[in-house]
Amino acid sequence: MSQQLKPITDYLDEKAGLINQHITLFLPRENVPSKLKDAMEYSLLAGGKRIRPILAMATYEAFERNSEDILPIAINIELLHTYSLIHDDLPAMDDDDYRRGKLTNHKVFGEAMAILAGDALLTHTFGNIAKYVRSVPDLSLDCGLQILEELAFYSGAAGMVGGQVADLLEEQGITTLDELLYIHTYKTGSLIVFSIRLGAILAGANEKQLQALTEFGEKIGLAFQIQDDILDVIGDSDKLGKTVGSDQMNDKVTYPFFKGMEASKQEVKQLIHTAKDSISDIGINPAYLHLIADYLVYRES
Ligand code: IPE
Ligand code: IPE
Ligand code: MG
Ligand code: MG
Ligand code: MG
Repeated sequence: MSQQLKPITDYLDEKAGLINQHITLFLPRENVPSKLKDAMEYSLLAGGKRIRPILAMATYEAFERNSEDILPIAINIELLHTYSLIHDDLPAMDDDDYRRGKLTNHKVFGEAMAILAGDALLTHTFGNIAKYVRSVPDLSLDCGLQILEELAFYSGAAGMVGGQVADLLEEQGITTLDELLYIHTYKTGSLIVFSIRLGAILAGANEKQLQALTEFGEKIGLAFQIQDDILDVIGDSDKLGKTVGSDQMNDKVTYPFFKGMEASKQEVKQLIHTAKDSISDIGINPAYLHLIADYLVYRES
C-alpha cells in the first residue's frame, strides 16, 4: 500500500479500533445459550475492515458532525453484515472454510449453530437500532422508523438477500453483463448504500444531498464487489483472511471472468471517479469519503 494512502489507512484504523472497542456491548447478554453466544462472538470479533459502519460515520462527518455520537447505531451494521458472511460461507452457499483469517463459523460450530448465530445477529441488529432511537431525544420517531424500514429494505428480499439469491441462481448460467451487475448491485451494493444513507439521514441531509450520496454508495458498492472478485483471483489469502479461488471453484461468473482482469480494474477506477464526482458539489465536506473511495481501488484485503 503506497505512502499516498497513509492518511486514509490511519483514519480507517482509528475508526475500526473504536468500533472494535465497543462492539461487544451490542451483543445480547442475558439469557443467551452459551454455545450461541460463542458462535456469534466468534465471527463478529474475528476482525474485518468494519468499512460499512465507517462509511456511515464518515458520511456523518461530511456534514461537520461528530461521528462518535452515531457509533451506537452505525456499529449495528457490522452485526448484520457478519450474519451475511456466516450464511454466505455455508456449504449450501459458497462452501468456504476460511473467513477473517479463521475457520468459518460452520467449520467450528456446525451448520445448524452457524445458521442460528446468523439469525440471532440479524434479529438483534433491529432490536439495538430501535433501542438507540428510543434513547436519543433529538431523533424523531419518524426518522427512527425510516431507518428501520430502510435497513429492512436494503438488506432484505429486494436488496442484499435478493442479490444473494441471484448470485446462487446464476452461478453457471449467466448470460449478460446486466445480470452480473444486478447481482453485484444488490448482494453487496445495497448494504453499502444503506450505510451511507444512515449517516446522511442522521445528519439531516436534504433530498439533493441524499440522492447524490446514494449514487456515491451505488458506485462504490459496485466497485467494492468488482474489487472483491479481482482479489479472489489475484489476492493474497493471508491478507484477505479467506481462500482465494473460491469463485472459480463455485463456477461463479464474476466481473474478471466476464470482462477480463484489465477491464475489471479499469471499471473499478472509472466507478470511483464517477462516485467522487457525484458528491463534490453538494454542500458537504467530501474529503474523507473521497479518500475512502480511493482506498477501495487499492485495497488488498
Ligand atoms: C466481504 O465483505 C463480503 C462482500 C460483500 C464482498 P468485506 O470485504 O467488507 O469483509 P470484512 O467485513 O472486511 O471481513
Ligand atoms: C458476498 O459476496 C456478499 C454477501 C455476503 C452478502 P461474496 O461471496 O463474493 O463474498 P466473499 O468473497 O465470500 O467475502
Ligand atoms: Mg457469495
Ligand atoms: Mg462468498
Ligand atoms: Mg467474493
